[in-house]
Amino acid sequence: MDRTGMSEALAAALAEAQAEIEEALDTLLPPAEGPEAPLLAAMRHAAMGGGKRLRGFLVLEGARQFRVARASALRVAAAIEMLHAYSLVHDDLPAMDDDDLRRGRPTVHKQWDEATAILAGDALQTQAFAVLAAPDTHSDPAVRAELCLRLAQAAGARGMCGGQMLDMLAEAATEPLGEAAVARLQLLKTGKLIEFSAEAGAILGKAPHPQRVALAAYGHDIGAAFQIADDLLDATATEAEAGKRTGKDAGAGKATLVGLLGAGRAAAQAERLVEQAKAHLDGMGGEAGLLRALADFVIARRA
Ligand code: IPE
Ligand code: IPE
Ligand code: MG
Ligand code: MG
Ligand code: MG
Repeated sequence: MDRTGMSEALAAALAEAQAEIEEALDTLLPPAEGPEAPLLAAMRHAAMGGGKRLRGFLVLEGARQFRVARASALRVAAAIEMLHAYSLVHDDLPAMDDDDLRRGRPTVHKQWDEATAILAGDALQTQAFAVLAAPDTHSDPAVRAELCLRLAQAAGARGMCGGQMLDMLAEAATEPLGEAAVARLQLLKTGKLIEFSAEAGAILGKAPHPQRVALAAYGHDIGAAFQIADDLLDATATEAEAGKRTGKDAGAGKATLVGLLGAGRAAAQAERLVEQAKAHLDGMGGEAGLLRALADFVIARRA
């Protein structure tokens, strides 16, 4: 992938994490065999072979702070990437953003059909929870239950799905949303899952409360910056850079801070959020260096 905006240390660590997450997904997603093979092939197409793995990397780096076994953290990283892939498959459907390109390849409903895309998204979501709940993820059932609960909250009606609903409602509304309403929409549709990704390592590691709160707050702020950056990329990146269609949000009537404030002020807000995110890590010491570098990358990226 394009390494624009990354320190060398971050580029190396992210490349390693990407390879490990790919391998974990290959193990945790069933092979595309048997009568339901198209569903399984569509799930693998959506979840594997691309993506920055930013959410999975957050899990791994958070977990590393608390010396969590890599195999445990990788299962949680893969689960979050499955949930995220499901959100993208459904986001791309004709009823939502109607996109034909994702990660430089055809979207699932283009490669197969809408029914297969809906089912592949559904099954990626349930597989994510199955992985979190399985004994191999953590020896303590209370930790597994907490991971399931927090992911359900982050992905559900007061999380990603709720934010996607607000995104669709805003597209159809006659009056544009105000700044606070757009910020809430983005917190839900994108922020909650990124916040959970940052917090998950602390849950796995049974971290002291202040450190868990610091990681969640860091995730909260980079999540907000991340969606502003995505909206800026829609306005400025080429499709070859982004691996998805760009230049669509304004015409579709999407509620974004870029549309509301202009690119300059939106970018300045994203920069403030990144500084704030890094400040939350002040108590965490040198081990959190890659998380600090990742915060910078969130807004420097070109994809
Ligand atoms: C895209 O997420 C969807 C948004 C929340 C903006 P990513 O930019 O993380 O997508 P991949 O996983 O790298 O493809
Ligand atoms: C999607 O936001 C957020 C999700 C919950 C999937 P976008 O619709 O802006 O994401 P892209 O630009 O299609 O990746
Ligand atoms: Mg969308
Ligand atoms: Mg979209
Ligand atoms: Mg977008």
